[in-house]
Amino acid sequence: MKKFSIVIAGGGSTYTPGIVMMLLDNLDRFPLRKLKLYDNDRERQAVLGEAIESVLKEKAPDIEYCYTTDPEEAFTDIDFCFAHIRTGKYEMREKDEKIPLKHGVVGQETCGPGGIAYGMRSIGDMIELIDIMEKYSPDAWMLNYSNPAAIVAEACRVLRPNSKVLNICDMPVGTLRRISHIIGKEPQDLEVRYFGLNHFGWWTSVKDKEGNEYLPQIRDYVAENGYLTQKEVDTQHTDASWQETHKKAKDLLAVDPRFLPNTYLKYYLYPDYVVKTSNPEYTRANEVIAGREKTVFSTARQIIERGTAEGCEFEMGAHATFVVDLARAIAFNTHERMLLIVENNGTIANFDDDAMVEVPCIVGSDGPEPLSQGKIPEFQRALMYQQVTVEKLVVQAYIEGSYQKLWQALTLSKTVPSAQVAKEILDDLIEANKGYWPDLN
Ligand code: NAD
Ligand code: G6P
Ligand code: MN
Repeated sequence: MKKFSIVIAGGGSTYTPGIVMMLLDNLDRFPLRKLKLYDNDRERQAVLGEAIESVLKEKAPDIEYCYTTDPEEAFTDIDFCFAHIRTGKYEMREKDEKIPLKHGVVGQETCGPGGIAYGMRSIGDMIELIDIMEKYSPDAWMLNYSNPAAIVAEACRVLRPNSKVLNICDMPVGTLRRISHIIGKEPQDLEVRYFGLNHFGWWTSVKDKEGNEYLPQIRDYVAENGYLTQKEVDTQHTDASWQETHKKAKDLLAVDPRFLPNTYLKYYLYPDYVVKTSNPEYTRANEVIAGREKTVFSTARQIIERGTAEGCEFEMGAHATFVVDLARAIAFNTHERMLLIVENNGTIANFDDDAMVEVPCIVGSDGPEPLSQGKIPEFQRALMYQQVTVEKLVVQAYIEGSYQKLWQALTLSKTVPSAQVAKEILDDLIEANKGYWPDLN
């Protein structure tokens, strides 16, 4: 079998060790000849980079390995870039969450003003990453899950329409694990229909391979319990705040009991509830710093101190096998069916062609072929049109350096109550994002 060379961009990410362990677990399906980590924060990456070096020496010494901050070294001779960068790191995530909350508005990594702020920081770095990849490995594919994926995907559509970049999200993957458990199946037993935007969508069908429809049964369960399962089946979204989110899906379903909602809809359909139950002094960024980041980096430091990974290993990000499935689909033309963020072009029949939507696609060596989802109801269509326009205005504001458009984007977000509040939040965000955003006029 052919062997592949991968660079993980955002090598210092809390997800990197989990992805590496998952890759090692999948070598029989997706063999590696080279693995490189790339980050622009030398010190942060070095901690994980050195620990991963021990892991590889012990588990897969044949794989050529390095970690680097040099783009040429990182991107030369690669087949895939797995990208999970966070421009501004947790320090800026914390501001994305806390600034809107100070104004009584949802403070979230990818939704509402926080997501818009993060988008304005990410676009430039992501485009630069694509350009670097194309310079040193013109045939490579980028599998991107850097957030905010909706805005990043729209920026790619506008600024790098011909680049080989696939944008993917793990929320539907995690929720499908729960859904499968609810009906006593495995995710690979099921085929879904789904429409929406990233962090903004609905399942309209969940069938087994024989064509039996499980949606009514799942709906009955979710109407009672949300996506909470008795046994923990998700490997990622497990903290108490996530459990609360899974439970809230019950109220999302109530708004339109026909379809199964993406958990992220809570920020748009129940923003008042979200604000009321948020602690403006301690947000998700603080939880992650005290939780996942601490665990991952202290494990790495232990491995480095002991000089071996034996006896203290990184946890495998089992949920991330979808990244290998996606890489395999391209590498081996498997025609796997997966949800991706792609340009609509008629996939949702009554939605704009140039909208980046999240829909099931068949993926092969030429990339994704989206599967037609037909016409969608007016309630969802109107919500999606409002949100996709926010995302488009952000990208235009970035390109044109337009204060006006960014103010409009914030004003249009369903999470923001008025143009006045939008302006007050925007002015605070501009101050906080100095050095990250382009100048606006
Ligand atoms: P993190 O801060 O731990 O890691 C991000 C890393 O990216 C940091 O080491 C940082 O130094 C590095 N970085 C920042 N800008 C860079 C650049 N221009 N070039 C190279 N490296 C750069 O964050 P995390 O919590 O591990 O998350 C990583 C990313 O993955 C975030 O964007 C997060 O939102 C995203 N994510 C997406 C999904 C999804 O569903 N799409 C799921 C999980 C995480
Ligand atoms: C889900 C989403 C990601 C998001 C992550 C945040 O997986 O799909 O897009 O980045 O949650 O998780 P965290 O644990 O960092 O709050
Ligand atoms: Mn996501």
